[in-house]
Amino acid sequence: MKTAVILGAGQMGRAVLELLNTNRYRIAAVGDNDTARHDAAAEPPVMAVEEALLCTPDLVLITVMGTERAAMLERQARDAGYAGQILKLHELRELLDVRGRTVQLASQRIREQEIPGAAAELGVYRGDTARLINLFLPDRKLYLFDTFEGFDERDLKESFTSPNRFTDTSAEMVLGRLPHPEKAVVRKGYFPETAAGLEEKRFAFVSLDPDLYAPVLAGLRYFYPRLNPGGMIVLHDYNNQQFPGAHQAVEDFEAENGKLLLVPLADLHGSCVIVKPF
Ligand SMILES: C[S@@+](CC[C@H](N)C(=O)[O-])C[C@H]1O[C@@H](n2cnc3c(N)ncnc32)[C@H](O)[C@@H]1O
Repeated sequence: MKTAVILGAGQMGRAVLELLNTNRYRIAAVGDNDTARHDAAAEPPVMAVEEALLCTPDLVLITVMGTERAAMLERQARDAGYAGQILKLHELRELLDVRGRTVQLASQRIREQEIPGAAAELGVYRGDTARLINLFLPDRKLYLFDTFEGFDERDLKESFTSPNRFTDTSAEMVLGRLPHPEKAVVRKGYFPETAAGLEEKRFAFVSLDPDLYAPVLAGLRYFYPRLNPGGMIVLHDYNNQQFPGAHQAVEDFEAENGKLLLVPLADLHGSCVIVKPF
């Protein structure tokens, strides 16, 4: 059994803890420069970076996502005298895209089963996922719901995210990235207001990724009743402690409407797939 140390106790660190192959690796400690996260009683314990490296691990996994912060932690580990293997999660995440592959496999299934309906994404940002949906469901209309100006004040009562995120985008930029832009229908503005007039639409595939409680709940209320049997919603952040609003929204939607057929995914963001039964 090899020993590993994780550097970075945030959402990604926790996700990696749960993903790691425990038949091969034992996590000896988690190191973090934020003393507020230190917890000697946790399993594995969270401590200062230099202290964690005293475990002489075979592998150090750096789980912060920013390139500069990851490079800084790598230097810190080397300066502390660690000479072994270092893996940086953000580099692996750029290589291996579980969510993108899920979109591809789900789209394939929808095509094979001939599930009728349009595709949609709520929470488009710069179009990384929208591009994949458009690529893998080239015949379907693709409804794109976003403010294209970041979060709306009305949704920011959950104050664990900074309001100025996701502002560096535009509908034009997203359309420019799509392989079949003629299939796209942009609904720019505040959701659910931007769904007005689309009450009769039916969907086969939806990506729900607006991060916060209010738009996730509004998205479930709009899309789920309009999902054709065999259709799927890929919901981002369902098991993501950074955005607990997504999980809460599912619980509240289920309390209103009954249990969903929901399969959690083991991607780093804690996504899940909600399927409409036949
Ligand atoms: C995490 S980003 C989406 C990332 C995107 N799915 C991707 O593949 O990269 C979240 C997006 O949700 C949008 N959003 C959040 N709440 C919204 C609301 N109520 N109405 C419209 N857009 C919203 C934000 O503007 C932001 O662009």
